[in-house]
Amino acid sequence: MMSAMKTLFALFFFTILFTVSNAIPVSLEQRDVYVPPITCPTAYTVWNKGEVHNVTWDVSDPPAQITNKIGRIQLREGGLTTPLILADGFDILLGRIEVTVPWVITANDYQLVLFGDSGNFSPEFTINGSPL
Ligand SMILES: *[C@@H]1O[C@H](CO)[C@@H](O)[C@H](O)[C@H]1NC(C)=O
Repeated sequence: MMSAMKTLFALFFFTILFTVSNAIPVSLEQRDVYVPPITCPTAYTVWNKGEVHNVTWDVSDPPAQITNKIGRIQLREGGLTTPLILADGFDILLGRIEVTVPWVITANDYQLVLFGDSGNFSPEFTINGSPL
């Protein structure tokens, strides 16, 4: 019984030590490039022009320090990033932002790119706009 209590106390003590050491702030030199993966749209997404949709991304594992917290979403088509901006100036840690689907030529090879410091692409998905 006593030794079980001692083990529990030891565990408790080390948990506190570990928590405190993790809370020590890192210096500016240790800031990390942070580009979370896009979770919506997916390869199965079909958007129609003029609709409003949430673009979502995974913010479950951000580094302690982020170089650029300001996000931007741009449209890609046929493997190229277009100049079309769907959202800009938002906090990258929000995890979602509403965008209005632009009126474009119907195609199934659209992608979004989420920029923080660098960019992460969504899978290719479909936007229904006007025929080619
Ligand atoms: C986007 O997500 C938010 C939070 O879940 C929700 O309140 C809002 O209705 C969503 N917008 C659309 C267009 O689905």
